[in-house]
Amino acid sequence: MSDTRRRATFVAPANIAFIKYWGIRDENKVIPYNSSISMTLSRCTSKCTVEFDSARGADEIWFRQVGGDFEPAADAFARPVRRHLETLRSRAGVGGGCRVWTENSFPTGAGIASSASGFSALTLAASEAMGAPPKNAAEASVLARMSGSGSAARSVLGGYVLWPESLDDSGGSSEQAEQAAVQIATAAHWDLRDVVAVVDSAPKAVSSRDGHRRAPSSPRFAPRLEELGARLLAVRDAIQRRDIEALGKTLETEAIDLHQVAMSSRPPIYYWKPGTLAVLWSIRSLRAEGVPVYATIDAGPNVHAICPAEFEERVAEAFGSMKEVESVLLDRVGTGPYETSDHFEGPAA
Ligand code: DP6
Repeated sequence: MSDTRRRATFVAPANIAFIKYWGIRDENKVIPYNSSISMTLSRCTSKCTVEFDSARGADEIWFRQVGGDFEPAADAFARPVRRHLETLRSRAGVGGGCRVWTENSFPTGAGIASSASGFSALTLAASEAMGAPPKNAAEASVLARMSGSGSAARSVLGGYVLWPESLDDSGGSSEQAEQAAVQIATAAHWDLRDVVAVVDSAPKAVSSRDGHRRAPSSPRFAPRLEELGARLLAVRDAIQRRDIEALGKTLETEAIDLHQVAMSSRPPIYYWKPGTLAVLWSIRSLRAEGVPVYATIDAGPNVHAICPAEFEERVAEAFGSMKEVESVLLDRVGTGPYETSDHFEGPAA
């Protein structure tokens, strides 16, 4: 049989969760304790080229921040990538090895889901390069999740996305492990903006994975799960009706709740920095002035301010004048990943 060498490149966006995935029920199948809902972004993206070579022995992983140079990826980044390539190879029924080039358009590890965009881009590019692309969005979602980054399950879709939990308390049957994310509204349905106040761009001290593991030790964990059913319905309904007040109220309650769980886990996790609280106060002031803007915070210190398009500038101006804010990123709802023929030709290509 002759050797196969094929290349594919995908750009995939990060997403910001309105209802958070926090707590992992089954680490192998990446089954969450709760359903989550997110908005797919458009400017915070990862671009990934995978070159698959059936004659190649080992994988080679390169990474760069936009504007920088490609460097061999650090171990903490390369290890889960290699593991995921292995999963994708066995699914595709191929041997060989891959060269991977990934570029992030935004700071890594700063409460913006770099692994969601990175692993969804990797999943799509690698499976295409291996000659076994996912048959549909549901399969893409499940494959992306198998990387270990649950939020990647949502980044393969555009607009507003629901990732349902497994309903099986015993740990999930194989069918339930196939729970895929679904789109609940398109990007065109509602032009929401995400104004990110970056108060600290250093990588977070405690990974999301550790946070998921510790979550059930918090006395706030079970009460939050109880409340989530109503919260999910409220968020879905507010998205359908494009009701920013209803959406905002619920997403803010949910974000604070996630951090209450984190702060009361054993041992506790404090993702917030003093600047986080300063931004939360500035959002309250903006609301008092009639600006419909609401805060959500992932597993990091940075604040995502969600608002309709016409208020984006006002919010960005307010953040830009704060001494606690290092930088402001302007993002918005987006249409999801896409393939491009603009491949990376890294130094080792
Ligand atoms: C707080 O396990 O998907 O962002 O792989 O590090 O992105 P990463 O995290 P993952 O957990 C995400 C946790 C969260 C909430 C969310 O996005 O739902």
